[in-house]
Amino acid sequence: MLKRLNHVAIAVPDLEAAAATYRDVLGATVSPPQALPEHGVTVVFVELGNTKVELIEPLGENSPIAGFLEKSPAGGMHHICYEVDDIIVARDRLVAGGARVLGDGEPKTGAHGKPVLFLHPKDFCGTLVELEEV
Ligand code: CO
Repeated sequence: MLKRLNHVAIAVPDLEAAAATYRDVLGATVSPPQALPEHGVTVVFVELGNTKVELIEPLGENSPIAGFLEKSPAGGMHHICYEVDDIIVARDRLVAGGARVLGDGEPKTGAHGKPVLFLHPKDFCGTLVELEEV
């Protein structure tokens, strides 16, 4: 069911500083910031040869990463995203197996304009998992 690793997301308290670290210290190619109000984050993409790292900063009042940054003020790894062929088939199989899908269970449009879902970290080794249909 799982295909490629699409990205690893790192929650950060200061996106500009984090982007500068990746660009200037690590020498990576970093995209301009993109606001995603429906996800409550602003994101930049660090482009790597085989995958991406997304640096995400809270946006708005009810950002889903605000609580994470309260517990980890310096930032930290927030989720990993795997590609799937068909997100509805994947969701239905996971739900049938007892996994919990976050939110209303329906895919939203993610940062790359593709359907995404998030799975409860307690069901996946303590790691928040995002699925993206590619
Ligand atoms: Co993501």
